[in-house]
Amino acid sequence: MEYLDLAKQLARDAGDILKHYTRREKQVEFKGRANLVTVADKESEAFIIRGIQKHFPGHSILAEESGATESLPGARVRWVIDPLDGTTNFAHQYPFYCVSIGVEVDGVVACGAVYDPCRDEMFSAARGEGAFLNEESLRVSEVDKLSHALLLTGFPYDFRERIDTPLGMFRGFLLESQAVRRGGSAALDLCHMAAGRCDGFWEMKLHPWDTAAGCVIAEESGARFTDFSGGPFSIYKKEIVASNGRIHDEMLSVLKLAAS
Ligand code: IPD
Ligand code: CA
Ligand code: CA
Repeated sequence: MEYLDLAKQLARDAGDILKHYTRREKQVEFKGRANLVTVADKESEAFIIRGIQKHFPGHSILAEESGATESLPGARVRWVIDPLDGTTNFAHQYPFYCVSIGVEVDGVVACGAVYDPCRDEMFSAARGEGAFLNEESLRVSEVDKLSHALLLTGFPYDFRERIDTPLGMFRGFLLESQAVRRGGSAALDLCHMAAGRCDGFWEMKLHPWDTAAGCVIAEESGARFTDFSGGPFSIYKKEIVASNGRIHDEMLSVLKLAAS
Protein backbone atom coordinates (compact mmCIF):
# COMPACT_ATOMS: atom_id res chain seq x y z
CA MET A 1 0.00 0.00 0.00
CA GLU A 2 1.41 3.37 -0.97
CA TYR A 3 0.40 5.01 2.33
CA LEU A 4 2.50 2.48 4.24
CA ASP A 5 5.52 3.07 2.01
CA LEU A 6 5.31 6.79 2.72
CA ALA A 7 4.73 6.21 6.47
CA LYS A 8 7.86 4.02 6.61
CA GLN A 9 9.97 6.47 4.66
CA LEU A 10 8.88 9.44 6.79
CA ALA A 11 9.30 7.51 10.06
CA ARG A 12 12.84 6.49 9.10
CA ASP A 13 13.85 9.99 8.00
CA ALA A 14 12.27 11.55 11.12
CA GLY A 15 14.20 8.98 13.18
CA ASP A 16 17.38 10.33 11.58
CA ILE A 17 16.36 13.82 12.70
CA LEU A 18 16.01 12.51 16.28
CA LYS A 19 19.40 10.81 16.03
CA HIS A 20 20.92 14.09 14.90
CA TYR A 21 19.84 15.61 18.22
CA THR A 22 21.26 12.79 20.34
CA ARG A 23 24.10 14.10 22.49
CA ARG A 24 23.22 17.70 21.57
CA GLU A 25 21.40 20.28 23.65
CA LYS A 26 17.77 19.04 23.68
CA GLN A 27 16.07 22.40 24.53
CA VAL A 28 13.46 20.86 26.77
CA GLU A 29 10.17 22.67 27.46
CA PHE A 30 7.51 21.43 29.89
CA LYS A 31 3.88 20.80 28.86
CA GLY A 32 3.26 19.62 32.44
CA ARG A 33 5.46 18.71 35.41
CA ALA A 34 6.55 15.40 33.84
CA ASN A 35 5.42 16.03 30.25
CA LEU A 36 8.26 17.29 28.06
CA VAL A 37 8.60 18.53 24.53
CA THR A 38 11.93 19.14 22.81
CA VAL A 39 13.03 20.91 19.65
CA ALA A 40 13.49 17.42 18.18
CA ASP A 41 9.77 16.56 18.69
CA LYS A 42 8.82 19.72 16.83
CA GLU A 43 11.28 19.31 14.00
CA SER A 44 10.40 15.66 13.50
CA GLU A 45 6.68 16.52 13.40
CA ALA A 46 7.12 19.44 10.96
CA PHE A 47 9.17 17.19 8.68
CA ILE A 48 6.52 14.42 8.69
CA ILE A 49 3.65 16.84 8.07
CA ARG A 50 5.50 18.47 5.14
CA GLY A 51 6.09 15.02 3.63
CA ILE A 52 2.41 14.02 3.91
CA GLN A 53 1.17 17.34 2.53
CA LYS A 54 3.55 17.10 -0.40
CA HIS A 55 2.23 13.68 -1.44
CA PHE A 56 -1.38 13.85 -0.21
CA PRO A 57 -2.49 17.48 0.18
CA GLY A 58 -6.15 16.42 0.64
CA HIS A 59 -5.55 14.16 3.65
CA SER A 60 -6.29 15.13 7.27
CA ILE A 61 -3.61 15.01 9.95
CA LEU A 62 -3.71 14.52 13.73
CA ALA A 63 -0.29 15.17 15.25
CA GLU A 64 0.66 15.35 18.92
CA GLU A 65 2.33 18.74 18.96
CA SER A 66 0.25 20.65 16.41
CA GLY A 67 -3.14 18.97 16.86
CA ALA A 68 -5.66 18.19 14.13
CA THR A 69 -5.86 19.87 10.76
CA GLU A 70 -9.29 21.02 9.76
CA SER A 71 -11.08 18.10 8.19
CA LEU A 72 -11.35 18.72 4.48
CA PRO A 73 -14.74 17.88 2.96
CA GLY A 74 -14.70 14.30 1.72
CA ALA A 75 -11.31 13.49 3.28
CA ARG A 76 -11.35 9.78 4.07
CA VAL A 77 -7.74 9.48 5.18
CA ARG A 78 -6.21 10.79 8.39
CA TRP A 79 -2.56 10.46 9.40
CA VAL A 80 -2.04 10.05 13.16
CA ILE A 81 1.47 11.05 14.20
CA ASP A 82 3.65 10.86 17.27
CA PRO A 83 6.91 12.46 16.09
CA LEU A 84 8.78 11.21 19.17
CA ASP A 85 7.22 8.64 21.47
CA GLY A 86 9.37 8.37 24.57
CA THR A 87 10.40 12.02 24.90
CA THR A 88 11.53 11.65 28.52
CA ASN A 89 13.83 8.79 27.52
CA PHE A 90 15.13 10.82 24.58
CA ALA A 91 15.83 13.84 26.80
CA HIS A 92 17.92 11.62 29.11
CA GLN A 93 19.62 9.72 26.27
CA TYR A 94 17.97 6.49 27.43
CA PRO A 95 17.77 4.59 24.12
CA PHE A 96 14.07 3.66 24.03
CA TYR A 97 12.04 6.00 21.82
CA CYS A 98 10.58 5.99 18.33
CA VAL A 99 8.61 7.72 15.61
CA SER A 100 5.04 6.47 15.14
CA ILE A 101 2.83 7.08 12.09
CA GLY A 102 -0.59 5.47 11.65
CA VAL A 103 -2.96 5.97 8.72
CA GLU A 104 -6.72 5.86 9.25
CA VAL A 105 -9.02 5.24 6.31
CA ASP A 106 -12.72 5.86 7.03
CA GLY A 107 -11.99 5.84 10.77
CA VAL A 108 -10.12 2.52 10.85
CA VAL A 109 -6.34 2.32 11.19
CA ALA A 110 -5.37 0.76 7.87
CA CYS A 111 -1.59 0.72 8.27
CA GLY A 112 1.22 2.02 10.41
CA ALA A 113 4.96 2.31 10.87
CA VAL A 114 6.98 2.62 14.09
CA TYR A 115 10.69 3.28 13.72
CA ASP A 116 13.23 2.81 16.51
CA PRO A 117 16.33 4.78 15.45
CA CYS A 118 18.44 3.38 18.32
CA ARG A 119 18.14 -0.20 17.04
CA ASP A 120 17.37 0.57 13.40
CA GLU A 121 14.16 -1.42 13.78
CA MET A 122 11.27 -0.63 11.45
CA PHE A 123 7.98 -2.18 12.59
CA SER A 124 5.16 -1.96 10.07
CA ALA A 125 1.83 -3.46 9.10
CA ALA A 126 -1.04 -3.01 6.68
CA ARG A 127 -4.40 -4.42 7.75
CA GLY A 128 -4.88 -7.92 6.38
CA GLU A 129 -1.30 -8.16 5.14
CA GLY A 130 0.62 -9.13 8.29
CA ALA A 131 3.17 -7.27 10.40
CA PHE A 132 6.90 -6.96 9.90
CA LEU A 133 10.08 -6.04 11.70
CA ASN A 134 12.31 -4.82 8.89
CA GLU A 135 11.63 -7.67 6.39
CA GLU A 136 10.82 -10.37 8.95
CA SER A 137 7.22 -11.33 9.65
CA LEU A 138 5.97 -10.95 13.25
CA ARG A 139 3.94 -13.15 15.55
CA VAL A 140 2.91 -12.68 19.19
CA SER A 141 4.32 -15.02 21.86
CA GLU A 142 2.78 -18.35 22.90
CA VAL A 143 3.03 -17.87 26.66
CA ASP A 144 -0.29 -19.06 28.01
CA LYS A 145 -0.16 -18.34 31.73
CA LEU A 146 -0.02 -14.93 33.36
CA SER A 147 2.38 -16.32 35.95
CA HIS A 148 4.87 -16.97 33.09
CA ALA A 149 4.26 -13.68 31.32
CA LEU A 150 6.45 -10.61 30.90
CA LEU A 151 4.22 -7.52 30.91
CA LEU A 152 4.81 -3.92 29.88
CA THR A 153 3.04 -0.79 31.04
CA GLY A 154 3.37 2.97 31.51
CA PHE A 155 1.96 5.62 33.82
CA PRO A 156 -0.09 8.62 32.74
CA TYR A 157 1.62 12.02 33.06
CA ASP A 158 -0.88 13.14 35.72
CA PHE A 159 -0.27 10.09 37.95
CA ARG A 160 0.61 12.30 40.92
CA GLU A 161 -2.98 13.52 41.00
CA ARG A 162 -4.48 10.00 41.24
CA ILE A 163 -1.71 7.60 42.13
CA ASP A 164 -3.91 4.88 43.69
CA THR A 165 -5.52 3.64 40.47
CA PRO A 166 -2.33 3.04 38.42
CA LEU A 167 -0.46 1.72 41.45
CA GLY A 168 -3.27 -0.71 42.30
CA MET A 169 -3.11 -2.19 38.80
CA PHE A 170 0.68 -2.25 38.86
CA ARG A 171 0.67 -4.07 42.20
CA GLY A 172 -1.83 -6.65 40.94
CA PHE A 173 0.20 -7.45 37.82
CA LEU A 174 3.50 -7.44 39.71
CA LEU A 175 2.13 -10.12 42.02
CA GLU A 176 0.47 -12.26 39.33
CA SER A 177 2.92 -12.13 36.38
CA GLN A 178 6.54 -13.18 36.00
CA ALA A 179 7.71 -9.56 35.73
CA VAL A 180 6.58 -6.08 34.73
CA ARG A 181 8.65 -3.48 32.84
CA ARG A 182 7.94 0.21 32.38
CA GLY A 183 9.84 1.29 29.27
CA GLY A 184 8.54 4.79 28.52
CA SER A 185 7.35 4.41 24.93
CA ALA A 186 3.88 2.95 24.47
CA ALA A 187 4.32 2.63 20.69
CA LEU A 188 7.48 0.56 21.14
CA ASP A 189 5.83 -1.46 23.92
CA LEU A 190 3.12 -2.52 21.45
CA CYS A 191 5.70 -3.38 18.79
CA HIS A 192 7.77 -5.46 21.21
CA MET A 193 4.60 -7.34 22.09
CA ALA A 194 3.90 -7.85 18.38
CA ALA A 195 7.41 -9.32 18.08
CA GLY A 196 6.79 -11.79 20.92
CA ARG A 197 9.39 -10.10 23.16
CA CYS A 198 6.78 -9.70 25.87
CA ASP A 199 3.29 -11.09 26.36
CA GLY A 200 0.97 -8.32 27.47
CA PHE A 201 0.58 -4.57 27.89
CA TRP A 202 -1.85 -2.28 29.67
CA GLU A 203 -2.01 1.45 30.19
CA MET A 204 -4.52 4.23 30.84
CA LYS A 205 -4.94 7.70 29.33
CA LEU A 206 -2.94 7.11 26.19
CA HIS A 207 -3.67 9.22 23.12
CA PRO A 208 -4.44 8.09 19.55
CA TRP A 209 -0.95 9.08 18.36
CA ASP A 210 0.63 6.77 20.98
CA THR A 211 -1.29 3.71 19.81
CA ALA A 212 -2.51 4.11 16.20
CA ALA A 213 0.46 2.51 14.44
CA GLY A 214 1.40 0.10 17.25
CA CYS A 215 -2.14 -1.28 17.38
CA VAL A 216 -2.36 -2.28 13.73
CA ILE A 217 1.13 -3.78 13.98
CA ALA A 218 0.21 -5.81 17.08
CA GLU A 219 -3.21 -6.81 15.70
CA GLU A 220 -1.61 -8.06 12.51
CA SER A 221 0.77 -10.11 14.69
CA GLY A 222 -2.19 -11.83 16.34
CA ALA A 223 -2.64 -9.62 19.43
CA ARG A 224 -5.98 -9.16 21.17
CA PHE A 225 -7.08 -5.68 22.28
CA THR A 226 -9.83 -4.62 24.70
CA ASP A 227 -10.57 -1.94 27.27
CA PHE A 228 -10.16 -2.79 30.98
CA SER A 229 -13.63 -4.40 31.13
CA GLY A 230 -13.14 -6.61 28.09
CA GLY A 231 -15.12 -4.25 25.82
CA PRO A 232 -13.98 -3.20 22.37
CA PHE A 233 -10.79 -1.15 22.12
CA SER A 234 -10.42 2.06 20.15
CA ILE A 235 -7.38 4.33 19.86
CA TYR A 236 -9.73 7.11 21.08
CA LYS A 237 -10.50 5.30 24.37
CA LYS A 238 -8.56 5.91 27.55
CA GLU A 239 -7.96 2.25 28.47
CA ILE A 240 -5.89 -0.33 26.64
CA VAL A 241 -5.19 -3.98 27.39
CA ALA A 242 -3.26 -5.80 24.69
CA SER A 243 -1.90 -9.30 24.82
CA ASN A 244 -0.94 -12.37 22.88
CA GLY A 245 -4.58 -13.45 23.42
CA ARG A 246 -3.73 -16.41 25.63
CA ILE A 247 -3.27 -14.43 28.85
CA HIS A 248 -5.90 -11.81 28.09
CA ASP A 249 -8.69 -13.10 30.34
CA GLU A 250 -6.29 -13.45 33.25
CA MET A 251 -5.16 -9.84 32.67
CA LEU A 252 -8.78 -8.66 32.71
CA SER A 253 -9.33 -10.51 36.02
CA VAL A 254 -6.38 -8.67 37.60
CA LEU A 255 -7.77 -5.34 36.39
CA LYS A 256 -11.23 -6.19 37.72
CA LEU A 257 -9.81 -7.02 41.13
CA ALA A 258 -7.71 -3.82 41.17
CA ALA A 259 -10.83 -1.77 40.40
CA SER A 260 -12.94 -3.39 43.16
C1 IPD B 1 4.40 8.81 26.32
C2 IPD B 1 4.97 7.43 26.21
C3 IPD B 1 4.90 6.70 27.54
C4 IPD B 1 3.49 6.68 28.09
C5 IPD B 1 2.93 8.09 28.18
C6 IPD B 1 2.98 8.72 26.78
P1 IPD B 1 5.45 10.78 24.80
O1 IPD B 1 4.46 9.51 25.09
O2 IPD B 1 4.28 6.67 25.25
O3 IPD B 1 5.30 5.36 27.43
O4 IPD B 1 3.52 6.09 29.37
O5 IPD B 1 1.60 8.02 28.63
O6 IPD B 1 2.38 10.00 26.81
O7 IPD B 1 4.96 11.91 25.65
O8 IPD B 1 6.82 10.36 25.13
O9 IPD B 1 5.20 11.01 23.35
CA1 CA C 1 3.54 9.47 22.87
CA1 CA D 1 5.42 12.38 21.67
